[in-house]
Amino acid sequence: MAATDLERFSNEEKRNLSLGGHVGFDSLPDQLVSKSVTQGFSFNILCVGETGIGKSTLMNTLFNTTFETEEASHYESAVCLRPRTYDLQESNVHLKLTIVDAVGFGDQINKDESYRPIVEYIDTQFENYLQEELKIRRSLFNYHDTRIHVCLYFITPTGHSLKSLDLVTMKKLDSKVNIIPIIAKADTISKSELHKFKIKVMSELVSNGVQIYQFPTDDEAVAEINSVMNAHLPFAVVGSTEEVKVGNKLVRARQYPWGVVQVENESHCDFVKLREMLIRVNMEDLREQTHTRHYELYRRCKLEEMGFKDTDPDSQPFSLQETYETKRKEFLGELQRKEEEMRQMFVNKVKETEAELKEKERELHEKFEHLKRIHQEEKRKVEEKRRELEEEMNAFNRRKVAVETLQSQSLQATSQQPLKKDKDRKNFFSLPSACSIASGRYVN
Ligand code: GTP
Ligand code: MG
Repeated sequence: MAATDLERFSNEEKRNLSLGGHVGFDSLPDQLVSKSVTQGFSFNILCVGETGIGKSTLMNTLFNTTFETEEASHYESAVCLRPRTYDLQESNVHLKLTIVDAVGFGDQINKDESYRPIVEYIDTQFENYLQEELKIRRSLFNYHDTRIHVCLYFITPTGHSLKSLDLVTMKKLDSKVNIIPIIAKADTISKSELHKFKIKVMSELVSNGVQIYQFPTDDEAVAEINSVMNAHLPFAVVGSTEEVKVGNKLVRARQYPWGVVQVENESHCDFVKLREMLIRVNMEDLREQTHTRHYELYRRCKLEEMGFKDTDPDSQPFSLQETYETKRKEFLGELQRKEEEMRQMFVNKVKETEAELKEKERELHEKFEHLKRIHQEEKRKVEEKRRELEEEMNAFNRRKVAVETLQSQSLQATSQQPLKKDKDRKNFFSLPSACSIASGRYVN
């Protein structure tokens, strides 16, 4: 079909036709419901709040059951995310519920990085989903979607203002998840203080640009209730799994010496409002917002980061093939550049090592020459010493011979004049020449 025909076809007005009888596609919504019910639903809640603020109690109260809980210690070195998944069933509807606890939140001395593990966890779930979507063989139908649909942010009922940790964390999370702020342990704050606190919290959120989840008002069926409930945010809740007898009914409540706080009594707290809004009215919208707003944003940024574009510079649709080719070229170019860089680095390294070796060789040679000179000098000295010693030895031998000659002469003289023997001997030894010979000073 030519391009102009295509355009004309798509621009053609749709005509309304009436059916001659029942066809059956009015059962489409029922088919959808039936399919969804068979498939089951998943819902993932992230609980962020200080240790001991009442997160687990509220979850147990909300779903009217007892989830596994472990008390967190106040000594965690960092915030850690602990997900737990449960299969719940109400009538014939199956719900795969994941509750993720931010364990150790607010317990560190330095809280600058407290938000980081939470952001990373949310991103990891988006990344897993994106990877599944990008697979050649996708199985999104039975994929366990762990993306966080709602973050219940537990605010401590101080009556003053929000802590900077709360503001920073909510600001970091607001583009990634639907945040519903709730004032926890609302039974510990008086009614008038609570009223002021709610106003204060909301004004602080607005002035700091924190986007919290707004119950949708575009669907007529729920527009009224949702707009009323938006004005009640943040919900002030009380949690309890304890049952107390009020009148002749057992109700979930917290019992104090001065009275009973009933969890499901709307004049005591906003627990019922939270449950209605979170579970009965807006669960599907939370799931949808997660997919169409938060995940979409993550996916867009990620794909742009990877080099994918919707249009090329001439505003023409960018094909996946082209993107792939461009990216491949970029990658190969980068690889080549890196290879060249490494080769150059290697050559430089070899040159450096060669120069170092040459320098070392030169030093060694100099050392050798120096040692050689010292050795020759020593040798010359030893030779000189040897010559001196030989001369001394010759002189000594000559002296020895002279002494022996003199001795033999004196012996001869003694044998010829035996009578004058003693006298002559004395004379001989008194002679200066004899003394010199004996003391070694005789010079030939
Ligand atoms: P970690 O998981 O250890 O961080 O604690 P948590 O936030 O899950 O708190 P948890 O539900 O274990 O409750 C801690 C304590 O607070 C328990 O003694 C609860 O009984 C109490 N508590 C829970 N909810 C409320 C509430 O609404 N009001 C009051 N006054 N106490 C509450
Ligand atoms: Mg807990």
